Amino acid sequence: MEIVYSPYDERVMADPWATYRRMQDDAPAYYIPDLDCWALSRFEDIWQASMDRHSYTAGHGTSPDALFLASEPPPSVFLFMDPPAHGVHRGMIAKSYQKDKIATIDAHVRAIVRELLMPALETGRIEVYHLASRVALFVIADFIGLTREEILHIRGLIDRFYTREPGVRGTTPAGAQAFAEAHDYIHGLIGKYRRQPPASHSHINTWLHAIAADTTMTDEEIFFSIFAMVITGSDTVPLTTASCVYYLDQFPDQQALARRDPALLAGAFEETARYDQPTNLLGRRLVRDVELHGQTMREGQSVLFLYAAAGRDGREFEQPDSFNIERKMRRTLAFGTGIHFCLGQHLARLEGRIILEELMASIPEFAVERAACRRVYGEFLQSYCSVPISFKPR
Ligand code: HEM
Repeated sequence: MEIVYSPYDERVMADPWATYRRMQDDAPAYYIPDLDCWALSRFEDIWQASMDRHSYTAGHGTSPDALFLASEPPPSVFLFMDPPAHGVHRGMIAKSYQKDKIATIDAHVRAIVRELLMPALETGRIEVYHLASRVALFVIADFIGLTREEILHIRGLIDRFYTREPGVRGTTPAGAQAFAEAHDYIHGLIGKYRRQPPASHSHINTWLHAIAADTTMTDEEIFFSIFAMVITGSDTVPLTTASCVYYLDQFPDQQALARRDPALLAGAFEETARYDQPTNLLGRRLVRDVELHGQTMREGQSVLFLYAAAGRDGREFEQPDSFNIERKMRRTLAFGTGIHFCLGQHLARLEGRIILEELMASIPEFAVERAACRRVYGEFLQSYCSVPISFKPR
């Protein structure tokens, strides 16, 4: 039977695993005619392509929306830049996310988790995605230099911007309206912060005073940088944390292991990011021809990296379809690789681990309300976006 795959095919994406396996085995460089692009599904191919900065550019965007539907070039933020500008812009804030720096905020993150968790323990019910989302937002707000109220308002607009309608590819008119509101709101904040600078350690402070590539950052560049950091800082940790709780419930032997040895919860978070990768797929555009598996991918065509497929590639992982929190991984693509590897990977791991530790320590037994769980599938995000659990109230 012919393999049929498109990131916009809602039927395939509802349960893509069998399709990914067939692509990996029979069409590892899969051509999608109506998008004139290629999809890579094998771990090694995506790894090599991510490392190949001479053949691929992020300069046309990295999401399917940007690569296929946008009429304008993507905004000028480092996520969509190539060297040398990428290094200059990423470098302005990269230090804050180094492993040793992130280790110093353990107690701060734990205090936020406890603050949000304690009142919920009395109710006997927690929606894990919501809890993790609040934690991720409040933590990244501090890095960026926003107040809690400001970031919650921006996140609400981003949620509306992301909303998709069946049969409509990309942003809806209501989504475009939400984006316009976010644009005006954040520009208002930048104006305020130009008059009263926020905390000196914050990204906004850095961007306001930055001189990048011999020029200062414009308000529009600062707007997109804030927007991008709110999105990247709060989209994926809640998905992976909620999914992890879902799988710990689905595989009780794994939960029993984690309860016996909470040190395994870091591995549980890591395994979830492999097993059900939230950044489902992202892509690049070719700046020169590349030969792969006997086919020529031409300059100007886009190439999708099916990260979620790579996480289940049996060429890289033993028993890729089993959820094993003790798995030893030689490499992971859950956080990408190459120059665009995840800036927040250490922060993500810290947040995920602490939320899981606190949940497990305070709730000796819980039941996932399966009928109420929901999965999301957007242009580039997937996995559980609602995982309510019930338990004996404190
Ligand atoms: C489980 C959580 C997370 C996962 C699975 C994840 C995954 C990824 C992946 C796969 C990429 C590579 C994108 C590409 O190929 O273009 C990436 C990039 C990025 N991530 Fe994460 N991420 C997570 C959490 C975070 C957090 C908490 C932050 C907050 C700082 C963050 C910030 C970024 C940024 C800024 C980039 C772009 C880096 C660049 O272009 O140089 N991520 N992430």
